[in-house]
Amino acid sequence: MPSDKPSLKVDDLVVRFPIRQRGEQRYITPVDHVSFEIKPGEVLSLVGESGSGKSTLGRALVRLIEPSKGSICIGNNDVTHIRRSTELRGLRKNIQMVFQDPFASLNPVRTIGQHLKILVRKHQGLRGRQLEQRVIQLLDTVGLYPGQEVMVKYPHEMSGGQRQRVAIARALTVNPSFLVADEPISMLDVSIRADILKLLKRLKSDFDLGYLYITHDLASAKYFGDKIMVMYGGQVMETGTSKEIVDNAVHPYTRLLLASTAGSPRRERVGETSLEAPDLFEGRRGCPFAHRCPFVSDVCRTEKPPLVEQVHGHAVACHHPVLGGGNRRHDEE
Ligand SMILES: Nc1ncnc2c1ncn2[C@@H]1O[C@H](COP(=O)(O)OP(=O)(O)OP(=O)(O)O)[C@@H](O)[C@H]1O
Ligand SMILES: [Mg+2]
Repeated sequence: MPSDKPSLKVDDLVVRFPIRQRGEQRYITPVDHVSFEIKPGEVLSLVGESGSGKSTLGRALVRLIEPSKGSICIGNNDVTHIRRSTELRGLRKNIQMVFQDPFASLNPVRTIGQHLKILVRKHQGLRGRQLEQRVIQLLDTVGLYPGQEVMVKYPHEMSGGQRQRVAIARALTVNPSFLVADEPISMLDVSIRADILKLLKRLKSDFDLGYLYITHDLASAKYFGDKIMVMYGGQVMETGTSKEIVDNAVHPYTRLLLASTAGSPRRERVGETSLEAPDLFEGRRGCPFAHRCPFVSDVCRTEKPPLVEQVHGHAVACHHPVLGGGNRRHDEE
């Protein structure tokens, strides 16, 4: 059955921040002409190393940051530059964010019940018994029961995983179409990470929820994501279905990430030339990965490679993609 929920379309998005350097005002672009679409009930995993612009992109989607160029549309609704509080409230009914640290988003002097009641009362206008029932239902949805007992607890009385479940329940109070989940499991104990991912996956099918799932970890990106988008230096390096990216990555940067994934059978030594952070300054030239890429040539330092589709939605921005799969290196050809 076709979904009655909207798609999220991001087109040529740019976020720039002013930076003062030696008394001079300059700009960095941690999100640099990024485009993608997330359909209802679809998960796009966004992977990349620290500083590649993942959180900035996620925060721009929920309009915690205003984009400088490009557009963000939910269905036919262009939300790129909305400013009025009523419009922003409307946006946040469609798209919610779950953060890395659940403790930081909870008020230590409020019970779990109070946290949820405030939101349900505000967004759904429920009172009394109905309000309580809705809160218990939300807690049940995220696997926290018995609701009556959970409601009276304070955040410090719960484990990290339970707190993240509360944060997810809070996001669900508005019945959103999309969640931006910014490293939602990275601060949790390894033993419960899979449970939280399973919960997110169940919510995806139960509520036809679309996700931008931000992570460093390609294994969880593949497990949860229908598609993977790899970012470096604010730009999309490679994107495609999760299987295609994990099995047939052609960008040297994606292959570096895959090679560094625990248990990887690949033995490429890609990207070890320099661990220097990418240049994010506006006006930079070439490929942001050029300074670390073992396949670098002159053109990589001067011309930004366009994102070109290879096969069925698998697109790569690289002048020298490692075509044909396998572990063959250009210098071995
Ligand atoms: N408000 C801001 N003002 C100036 N620069 C910023 C601001 N927010 C982020 N940046 C810079 O933008 C770049 C990208 O940061 P971002 O937090 O989006 O990266 P990330 O991929 O989420 O990294 P991590 O994996 O460590 O969370 C960094 O260089 C960061 O310092
Ligand atoms: Mg981040």
